[in-house]
Amino acid sequence: MQHDRTSEGRIDALLARMTVEEKLGQLQQLAWNGDTGPGGGQNHLAEAAARKGVLGSVLNLHGAAHTNALQRIAVEESRLGVPLLFGFDVVHGFWTTFPIPLAQAAAFDPSVAVRDAEVSAAEARSNGVHWTFSPMMDVTHEPRWGRIAESSGEDPYLTAVLAAAKVRGYQGEDLADPRRVAACAKHFAGYGAVEGGRDYNTVDLSEQRLRNLHLPPFRAAVDAGAASVMAAFTTVGGVPAHAHPHLLTDVLKGEWGFDGVVVSDWGGVHELTVHGLAEDAADAARIAFGAGLDMEMASTHLADHGRELLDRGEFGAARLDDAVRRVLRLKFRLGLFERPYADEAAALGGPTPESRAAARRAAARCMVLLKNDGPVLPLAATVRSLAVLGPFADSADLHGTWSGPGEARFPAVTVLDGIRAAAPDAEVRHAAGGAEAVAAARAADAVVLVVGEPTAVSGEASSRADIGLPPGQEELIHAVAATGTHFAVVLVSGRPLTVEGWIDAAPAVLAAWHPGIEAGYAIADVLFGSVNPGGKLPVTLPRSVGQLPLYYNHENTGRPADPDRPDAPFVSSYLDTAHGPRFPFGHGLSYTEFEIGEPRLAAGTASVAELRAGAHVEVTVDVRNTGPRTGDEVVQLYVHDRAASIVQPVRRLRGFRRVTLAPNESAEVRFRLGADDLGFWTHDPAGRHTVEPGAIDVYAGGSSAARAHRTLTLTR
Ligand code: BGC
Repeated sequence: MQHDRTSEGRIDALLARMTVEEKLGQLQQLAWNGDTGPGGGQNHLAEAAARKGVLGSVLNLHGAAHTNALQRIAVEESRLGVPLLFGFDVVHGFWTTFPIPLAQAAAFDPSVAVRDAEVSAAEARSNGVHWTFSPMMDVTHEPRWGRIAESSGEDPYLTAVLAAAKVRGYQGEDLADPRRVAACAKHFAGYGAVEGGRDYNTVDLSEQRLRNLHLPPFRAAVDAGAASVMAAFTTVGGVPAHAHPHLLTDVLKGEWGFDGVVVSDWGGVHELTVHGLAEDAADAARIAFGAGLDMEMASTHLADHGRELLDRGEFGAARLDDAVRRVLRLKFRLGLFERPYADEAAALGGPTPESRAAARRAAARCMVLLKNDGPVLPLAATVRSLAVLGPFADSADLHGTWSGPGEARFPAVTVLDGIRAAAPDAEVRHAAGGAEAVAAARAADAVVLVVGEPTAVSGEASSRADIGLPPGQEELIHAVAATGTHFAVVLVSGRPLTVEGWIDAAPAVLAAWHPGIEAGYAIADVLFGSVNPGGKLPVTLPRSVGQLPLYYNHENTGRPADPDRPDAPFVSSYLDTAHGPRFPFGHGLSYTEFEIGEPRLAAGTASVAELRAGAHVEVTVDVRNTGPRTGDEVVQLYVHDRAASIVQPVRRLRGFRRVTLAPNESAEVRFRLGADDLGFWTHDPAGRHTVEPGAIDVYAGGSSAARAHRTLTLTR
């Protein structure tokens, strides 16, 4: 980001007046009624520290009047009057809950993420929140990991596009705008690679895997101007990210020139002792601060021991000033020195009709039609009798993890209410399960069966060892199937669920994720076809947990399985499970059909030297709606480098475009492939991206299983 000379000058002047304690204070963030981890609320501490001028930031406080009251103490009663920064996890909505981020990824449409971010930012900022701990951009191969719900799934390219979109949506052009908040790219880096999908677990990554898979979204977020970055709880190669100079200093601040704030995660500095890296609190502060961390969330080791560490020469005055400068710079960018208070009269008190409409549109756009035999869907609006069944049919537990303060005050619309509104003339019966549900199914013309997992089993510290439906639900599906009535399953979840035990019995399945505040209306929009589903899986859907990790962009082994020869011996496969996923990454159906042509390359060859100098190869793909309805298709472009100095993934997504086409309408979608798309990062810790001569297969289609391709030859 461009530095503002006036504020840099004002920062110099402030730094010159600050005591060491005041400087260390700027690096401290305390929690208001904190409940995201051990430690509890620090309200009294926060008030006293604000008054003394030794507090930089507070998290989890919101409301214009509440934040103003604490801000007044900092600004009017402390010696230098430096304003506080109020942070909050506004992850997929403040009052207006949008679908969970994993669902937003399924839209394959950055405008969904942008709209969420804009609405969230306006609601949050008007309530005194300056800074959101979002977007989360941890690439993961682990559906067992509860935090997959907060992520954009398994693909680094899709995640990077959405990370940048969300940063822009939160921050806009000017952070001082009262409708904008500062973003935080988290969790840096590699958290998504936790072993076994168990939260907070060990991570070990090669340099190339780190750089090719986990870092690209962060790079994109930094390039989009993300104001802050949060360190990950996890280790990388035995070193916790909070203590990782290579990540925090060499790559982030050095290579990428990041000039914003690196904030710890909740108690992440303290946890260095629990990991077994630091001897004690002072040691933890020394290591984290030395590695490049700027602000400590919740624990207070740096504030407590910074003075003694400085006196002992454990870090220099320049490191201290650099960290404080980053915090002050963010406060200047947010305009807090000019306007420290929220306008209480302008505070948004809840969702508006417009924000609800945006959340409803977003939720419907995120849904993925996994299967539709018959076709069962869409339901006719004239259907006479409907049974709306299952444990989630009349449930408001559809907000999803990290839904913000809106969740407690504004319940999500249930599927039952959504369906009643969409089919006002139909006779609608409901039962959660049991004999009553079966009887209702038997008596109805059609059944909507809403199953899935509650919000509480996805998100932080909510990993599951089994990712199937909770007990009893599979049986309910089979019981409804046995009635012979047409039925569609609506699946609500914070992760991809295994469906092996029941999917063959269900003619139609709609993955709705956790859709947010307008859930029921959005689900009804899709079920009745006023919205034609066009979402695609941002994650591979495995057949069983035993296959994990399973992801589309894997490397080939020396003995890959051949789907056409399932009995071949000595290949990389399982003896007791069919090879490959149940549904591939990028899969999703529509109520219409599409034909996607072979990719056309503007040139069959390209020179590495020219690509490195900024040249691109243009790829054109034709797509036509060959079915009976207007609908959306996501045209996807994948590349595969056949032979390279580091074995390359069998496919890598490098472009996608969601298009809406009327029956018989066609479109020509253009992509550009450059050095970023055709090359890769090596193991060089200093960061070396290379493009190598040779053959690259370019695939186009409607999922990662697309077969149509052309070959591009890269020459020197
Ligand atoms: C999470 C972060 C979050 C923080 C503050 C932590 O437990 O890992 O993602 O921003 O809490 O609520």
